Amino acid sequence: MTPKFMIETFGCQMNELDSEKIAANLRKSGMEPVADPAQADILILNTCSVREKAVQKIYARLGEIKRHKAQRPDLIVGVVGCMAQLERDKILKKAPLVDVLAGPQKGHVISELVKRSTLTRAPVIELRRESDPDPLEIGDFARGNSWRAGVTISEGCSRQCAFCVVPLTRGKERNRESSNILREIEGLVARGYFEIILLGQTVNSYRDPAADNLGFAGLLRRISEIEGVKRIRFTSSYPADFSDELREVMVSRPSVCNHIHLPVQSGSNKILRAMRRGYTREQYLEIIGKIRNASRAIAISTDIIVGYPGESEKDFEDTLSLIDEVQYDSAFSFKYSPRPNTAALKLTGEIPGEEKGRRLELLQERQKLIQYTNNATYIGQTVEVLVEGRARSRVRLTGRTSNNKIVNFDGPESLIGRFVFVEISGFSPNSLKGILIGTDQGV
Ligand code: 5AD
Repeated sequence: MTPKFMIETFGCQMNELDSEKIAANLRKSGMEPVADPAQADILILNTCSVREKAVQKIYARLGEIKRHKAQRPDLIVGVVGCMAQLERDKILKKAPLVDVLAGPQKGHVISELVKRSTLTRAPVIELRRESDPDPLEIGDFARGNSWRAGVTISEGCSRQCAFCVVPLTRGKERNRESSNILREIEGLVARGYFEIILLGQTVNSYRDPAADNLGFAGLLRRISEIEGVKRIRFTSSYPADFSDELREVMVSRPSVCNHIHLPVQSGSNKILRAMRRGYTREQYLEIIGKIRNASRAIAISTDIIVGYPGESEKDFEDTLSLIDEVQYDSAFSFKYSPRPNTAALKLTGEIPGEEKGRRLELLQERQKLIQYTNNATYIGQTVEVLVEGRARSRVRLTGRTSNNKIVNFDGPESLIGRFVFVEISGFSPNSLKGILIGTDQGV
């Protein structure tokens, strides 16, 4: 019988893409994907360790799997990705049921590890080492979508933000050669993909290792010249590397989506310094000013951490005033979570959990109001939407505008994966709703 596998993915878009590589590798070795974990012979958790909450969720899941494995002793359980890289010993101790433990960027060898684990009683362990040859050009992807594809342009991160564990899990930043990136995208377009999401920890810091004069804006320009690429998104951008050239490309190339995710983390200079973010509030706001002054409207989203060690009420208010000033289209906000082996662990002035919660709630309320006010301006406008799938609520379909607004509307499922025009008739802080008025092939 064909062995059946299932991958459960936690965390970021890069993890989603890594899971597609793992899936391709397992399929290639003759295994078959299933959607129900109860049917799986091999269960892979592709993990996240960016915050303690993500890690706790995965341990809770391992607890459930332990009970399941008691009924099915031949089930193979793999824990792969960032959390496996970061806390191997803890996982082995807390969850001895694990058969395979692998770091990030091991997607191309997972089937081998799974096979090896059937031959041994001890867990098979394969962590990432800085000296490993870079597997970025190795392996295929079993794509979960037929028009949208993630493409890694750089991996790892060489910045030293004091709170962040990513440099410890994914290693130093490595950039792919642009010729390989462009070839991959051309191949995707030939297979019908038309929305490309460029991925990197600090995606806009990209430099072609083979041609030092080609940076992120130049790469984006070349991708926009590939016929058939209809939408290009990229995430996440590092604020201090936002360039005038990038702005020019975003303004002049309609296929480059008019949205940028620009994590600020804090509005206080004292906290930004303690985070080692490498920019001040004023410098960040200057970049925002440049984006706001562009001749094409560009939506801006961000990430914010509250309750960082030493964050006073005044520092927190600086963050509130920053979000008021920027008027973000959306914001992901988090309570600071101490991570193993990061520089921030040495900081004093820990903020009690309750106070972090209070600040988070205040911030989210404030941001909700900003989004509500912003989304209200869409009433009566007609927007172009790429239909992504069925909506959860009563309205049947959901999609996104170029500037990343979620739009829900009623329409036939045959429109999924197509561009349509929707007249906006309603809104909430997180989405718009409207009436279908036309499709890419006429009304
Ligand atoms: N605590 C809380 N949030 C964190 N992030 C990264 N590390 C931490 C941490 N230790 C957030 C940042 C980052 C996003 C992906 O996760 O806001 O931009």
